[in-house]
Amino acid sequence: MPEVIIPSTSSELTGRALFPHRHLLSIADLKPWEIRFLLDEAEQWAKVNRGNARKHDGRLAGMTQINAFFENSTRTLLSFEIAGKRLGADVVNMHAGQSSVKKGETLIDTAMTLNAMAADVIVIRHASSGAVALIADMVDCAVLNAGDGWHQHPTQALLDALTIRRRKGGFEGLIVAICGDILHSRVARSNMLSLSALGAQVRAVAPPTLMPPEVGMLGATPCYRMDEGLDGADVVMMLRLQNERMDGAFIPSPREYHMLYGLTPERLAIARPDALVMHPGPMNRGVEISSNVADDPDRSAITEQVEMGVAVRMACLDVLTRGARGMEGWS
Ligand code: CP
Repeated sequence: MPEVIIPSTSSELTGRALFPHRHLLSIADLKPWEIRFLLDEAEQWAKVNRGNARKHDGRLAGMTQINAFFENSTRTLLSFEIAGKRLGADVVNMHAGQSSVKKGETLIDTAMTLNAMAADVIVIRHASSGAVALIADMVDCAVLNAGDGWHQHPTQALLDALTIRRRKGGFEGLIVAICGDILHSRVARSNMLSLSALGAQVRAVAPPTLMPPEVGMLGATPCYRMDEGLDGADVVMMLRLQNERMDGAFIPSPREYHMLYGLTPERLAIARPDALVMHPGPMNRGVEISSNVADDPDRSAITEQVEMGVAVRMACLDVLTRGARGMEGWS
């Protein structure tokens, strides 16, 4: 099969010699130029993925990528698997439900086991905040955080930023309203950091019970009512109620929540006429978003977010394995 030719390395294209990180654990670790660098890299893969029936590129050939998912996933797991395979890696998925974790093995013992198998890159999702960083400290290869508890989901923030940049042309002065269950959301925390670093004005819109106290430190302005948060917004990013992380009752009922915080066509009309609707998925239709908004082909970028997820994860896998492949990068 002929390989897809990628023009040069983007470190040459952007004038940056080195991505100075061994792992991708948190957006908080990245400077604005490093975020833009990863978006530029991903943009090239987005073009390759869209423009070619054959998308295979062999740069990770002979390398082993382990996707260790201790929590459920559809989009992130599949897109990391597709991304690794498109780059030529040998990709292995470990689902915690079918692993020795079920027999009482500790996280550290599992990490040491993956390390002993000489993985070249490990992608981890875990329900506990900080668990991915703990593993990263113990293994010899690059680790990518595919979501840890309430803490971070850096590749989600990168794919969201890429989607926004493609649709809106940039971030400077853009008003982005992130709405819903901010408290339990690693997606919100990653996006508040990333989008504010890139120059957007970020609003965190939630009922008081679902608003974490640290939104200001993460670069966002808190808004407690949807009409206040959506007024003049260029981008409206909706979040699911993360019931699996809730300990107690945070809302009176899903029906009442939809009435006050659900994104309906009437509520979307408060935002700019060309406002983009986003959702990281999985969606709960009729709760945080109504179907006619989610499926609006002119406004919704939800499927494009999924598409950009593959490109972003290809870029991250490529960049973080450059050192191990003898290219400029962390080694
Ligand atoms: N957005 C996201 O992380 O989706 P999954 O849980 O399906 O991976």
